[in-house]
Amino acid sequence: MEYKALFEPIEIGDTKLKNRIAMAPMNMTYSQPNGYMGDQNIAWYATRARGGFGLIITECIVINPHRWRGSEGVNPSLMTDNRYYRYLSKLVQTIHRYDDCKIFIQLSPGWGRQGHPDVETPDIPSAAPSSIPLHIDIRTLNKGWEKQVKRVSPDLFKNLGMENLDPIRKMNDTEYAVLEKNILEMLHKEAPALVHVVQGESPRELRIDEIVDLENRMAMQADEAFKLGFDGVEIHSPHGYLIHQFLSPRCNKRTDEYGGSLENRARFLINIIKKIRAKIGPDKPLGARLSGDELMPEGMNHEEAKQFVAMAKDAGINYVNTSQGCYENPGAFAPDGENEFTKYGPGFKKAGKGIPVIAPGFITPDCANKAITDGKLDIIALGRQAIADPFWPAKAQAGREKDIVKCTRCNQCYMNLFEPKWISCTVNPTAGFELWYPELWLKGSRHENRVNKFMEKAKGLI
Ligand SMILES: Cc1cc2nc3c(=O)[nH]c(=O)nc-3n(C[C@H](O)[C@H](O)[C@H](O)COP(=O)(O)O)c2cc1C
Repeated sequence: MEYKALFEPIEIGDTKLKNRIAMAPMNMTYSQPNGYMGDQNIAWYATRARGGFGLIITECIVINPHRWRGSEGVNPSLMTDNRYYRYLSKLVQTIHRYDDCKIFIQLSPGWGRQGHPDVETPDIPSAAPSSIPLHIDIRTLNKGWEKQVKRVSPDLFKNLGMENLDPIRKMNDTEYAVLEKNILEMLHKEAPALVHVVQGESPRELRIDEIVDLENRMAMQADEAFKLGFDGVEIHSPHGYLIHQFLSPRCNKRTDEYGGSLENRARFLINIIKKIRAKIGPDKPLGARLSGDELMPEGMNHEEAKQFVAMAKDAGINYVNTSQGCYENPGAFAPDGENEFTKYGPGFKKAGKGIPVIAPGFITPDCANKAITDGKLDIIALGRQAIADPFWPAKAQAGREKDIVKCTRCNQCYMNLFEPKWISCTVNPTAGFELWYPELWLKGSRHENRVNKFMEKAKGLI
């Protein structure tokens, strides 16, 4: 079967992508404890570049140098100064050696209330628009997360006398409050690392000078990213993280110019966009990732999200990447099925006045191709499916869709983020081990051809 639409080129600003298949931003936990990209990060991305992706969007990279950032436990890659730049430029050089693959960097000012105090300064709380702690309601966990809770905490269900989460999902708020107390006690004993994930500490409220400082730093680091050779920059503003917290009426209770009205809640994002655009000029790819809907009571809904896209477009983005949900609704951003995010495409396309719209969520080339031919999306992205099979684009192009190793949505990759483990995959034994299998990524790069020519000249001597 031909998937023609997937393999048509498309332009974002001054940059041409060879096809419509992007790898979704995914933090793979392979970075070094000090925030440097390691060799395994590079091998991981190179394998996907060799597999035929037209665009790689990096994992979320944090530009916030402060100790309260509270992010390094989950997303350890940093970009604050020269120490980090050389690792990132090595990544860019490597990816550009693969048949015109482009690489955008996803940049974040931090995690806010979804982060935790820094490991070295545990007494300093994370900082957010307002001092509202994170609280995850276990009733929102879907099947994939349920499997993972069973895996990391096998006795939990036994102690609760339950086979699965169904009885919990049916509980009313009073019943659930009693149970939650017991669950937290059990987690403290069995899986203490998960306690912070379910019940966050109270963040402190960010001061205005700190907010402005983060806006300026985002602009500075975006500018640096282009100097290092990245083809585009994506502002990380979905999933309930710091920028999303400003957008959300549920998490932003400020009474100054960064809270209240829609315009005020958008100010942090819009200032970041304007400041970046002023530095990088009019044509370079600059996008924002947004949840199409926060899917929480009193949270940012799709109507508001569309207005934010319209404002972001006017401020200077030239593409938008879609997702949904926030930490407090973890089933939403890691759905059990396929094609969950395409529904936001039409609304975002209209609000963005035609700038390309990207969304992840695909398993099969058929479904992905249709999202484009139906005009709902311009570029499709693969998240967990790109972990399961880095060669998805090449297989789809060759008509070998039967050879695609399908993601089972078990969410082991997601859960690994909260464990002391590198991310691995239940269906792809090479995921997390790319560095040990150079045959996955070495062949087919322009670098390999140059090395071969170089070696020719030493033939017979070494
Ligand atoms: C292990 C893992 C790490 C992720 N890290 C990020 C991230 O750094 N930034 C981001 O915007 N989304 C992140 N995501 C969300 C994905 O980009 C994507 O939206 C999500 O997996 C749903 O798409 P899928 O159904 O294609 O997997 C992550 C997902 C996974 C599985």
